[in-house]
Amino acid sequence: MLCFSTLCVYLLMLLKPVLTFNFTENIEVLVFLPQNNSYLFSHTRVAPAILYAQRRLQADAQLSGFRFNIHFEKSDCVNDALFALVDRSCEQKPDLILGPVCEYEAAAVVRLASHWNIPVISAGALAAAFSNKNSEFSHLTRIAPSYVKMAETFTAMFEHFSWKSALLLYEDDKEERNCFFTLEGIYHMMPDFNIKTYAFSQGERLDTDDILHNIHETEVVIMCMGADRIREVMLAAHRRQMTNGSYMFFNVDLFNASSYGDGSWKRGDKYDNDAKQAYASLNTVTLLRTVKPEFEDFSMEMKTSTRKAGFHECDDCGSVNMFVEGFHDAMLLYAIALHEAMKNGYSKKNGTEITSHMWNRTFEGIAGQVSIDVNGDRNGDFSLMTMTNVKAGTYEVVANYFGTNGTFQLLPAFSSDHFTLKERFKQHAEIPDQSCGLGVSALTGVIVGGVLGAAMLITFYFFRKNYRITIERRTHSEECDTGKHRQLREDSIRSNLSA
Ligand SMILES: *[C@@H]1O[C@H](CO)[C@@H](O)[C@H](O)[C@H]1NC(C)=O
Ligand SMILES: *[C@@H]1O[C@H](CO)[C@@H](O)[C@H](O)[C@H]1NC(C)=O
Ligand SMILES: *[C@@H]1O[C@H](CO)[C@@H](O)[C@H](O)[C@H]1NC(C)=O
Ligand SMILES: *[C@@H]1O[C@H](CO)[C@@H](O)[C@H](O)[C@H]1NC(C)=O
Ligand SMILES: *[C@@H]1O[C@H](CO)[C@@H](O)[C@H](O)[C@H]1NC(C)=O
Ligand SMILES: *[C@@H]1O[C@H](CO)[C@@H](O)[C@H](O)[C@H]1NC(C)=O
Ligand SMILES: *[C@@H]1O[C@H](CO)[C@@H](O)[C@H](O)[C@H]1NC(C)=O
Repeated sequence: MLCFSTLCVYLLMLLKPVLTFNFTENIEVLVFLPQNNSYLFSHTRVAPAILYAQRRLQADAQLSGFRFNIHFEKSDCVNDALFALVDRSCEQKPDLILGPVCEYEAAAVVRLASHWNIPVISAGALAAAFSNKNSEFSHLTRIAPSYVKMAETFTAMFEHFSWKSALLLYEDDKEERNCFFTLEGIYHMMPDFNIKTYAFSQGERLDTDDILHNIHETEVVIMCMGADRIREVMLAAHRRQMTNGSYMFFNVDLFNASSYGDGSWKRGDKYDNDAKQAYASLNTVTLLRTVKPEFEDFSMEMKTSTRKAGFHECDDCGSVNMFVEGFHDAMLLYAIALHEAMKNGYSKKNGTEITSHMWNRTFEGIAGQVSIDVNGDRNGDFSLMTMTNVKAGTYEVVANYFGTNGTFQLLPAFSSDHFTLKERFKQHAEIPDQSCGLGVSALTGVIVGGVLGAAMLITFYFFRKNYRITIERRTHSEECDTGKHRQLREDSIRSNLSA
């Protein structure tokens, strides 16, 4: 008996090296990043993060057998990435593609990669259309929260505060169309609400009278446009006394929140004081940033690398944004998935299998936990900022929304009064539900009692049936401007708004 168990121990010791699956494999990685530093995801900013991840993986006991050969290719947000992929693949197809970030460029690359069975991980491609992974985007994993994930924050707020209508107000550049895609995510997520849209072209003079006229009929205004344009709209609204709590104003600023929150109302002109008061009713939805000790090292090294590359014309050149973080974590995610797939007997060439191991999993990223949903899209955490000190005009995060469990976390600075629509809607608003603390999941719905629940269902049905009016306002200049309209070149990122 004793002898038998000793034999067992020996057997186990013999088996152990086999069980650790120490693979060796060369992996060709193709990375698409723009050279132009005006992009937050330019080569100068992001490449050091990818190389950092490469070194980290090299030091990992289990994954050190993977040799990542990283090739950087240009991207110009138009066609460069696609051409580079095709040209390179004549000799050898890559095993993994990172990027591109820009929607239209990503669409072409992801289609081809999916056809060739190559996994693509991007910290971009955030548009709603990429959520459909059934065919042409089947091999895409999105390592940054998409616009639809951002929109969950709004759905949760609308349900909690019983808001019913919104105006989506955005500036459209007709090139990369970031604001269009940002608000399209909200449009996509909220079919049960009364949503209108109002677009104006970049560079066009703002017709604030027309805009305010459209705001009149709605409760909530959600904006995506340049900081100066936001100020223009807010000042005009303030002059019409629309910033007294009768309307909710939001702006979506995912990537540059700190400078925004630092008080973007200030311009040093005679309108500063008015702007400060107006901004007291403007709330900002932004990405929730987390930090952990490990992140500090990473952050320091990114700063050093970008400085070494001679990039210091801006304040935030070396700061770690969502793209920098995302592409770092993309390398880790791929390595984990490849290791798992190989353990199950698949090769690095089986993109479908490797992609499936990246989805529906949570792992430790450089800044905190990264959770990828069953559809291969990252769950997002977002912060809600409001002006908490009107005298000083300073902003603070008042609530966080967690995408993994669909809950709000209210911070001490939160005031539910601030988010309650005043006066104008009192007469015909539903009974405000004061008892319901925001601690409960807002996504699960606010059904308080059978009667109220039924009443709400009927209301929603009614709204869906009769009130889903969409007005897409297009100016004359826009209609003449079709040559510039990227939609024509790339009609397959089909979008709800422009259909
Ligand atoms: C895996 O192999 C590498 C070298 O090929 C070695 O340095 C490392 O210690 C091995 N890891 C394990 C867990 O055996
Ligand atoms: C970089 O992009 C900006 C904004 O899109 C543009 O104005 C500038 O000309 C570009 N620079 C180069 C070198 O292409
Ligand atoms: C806010 O101003 C609007 C006019 O834009 C007015 O109808 C409303 O009664 C005012 N509400 C409060 C609370 O002062
Ligand atoms: C961030 O916002 C500020 C003010 O709106 C702007 O001056 C700056 O260029 C922005 N930075 C980036 C990287 O977009
Ligand atoms: C890749 O893996 C899938 C299972 O995910 C399998 O059905 C398929 O046959 C594999 N393809 C190749 C080329 O090995
Ligand atoms: C996702 O993962 C969970 C556990 O991690 C599992 O229970 C569930 O079945 C998975 N879903 C799919 C669609 O694979
Ligand atoms: C939701 O997730 C966040 C972060 O992952 C966590 O802090 C919070 O406690 C969770 N809330 C619930 C109700 O599970």
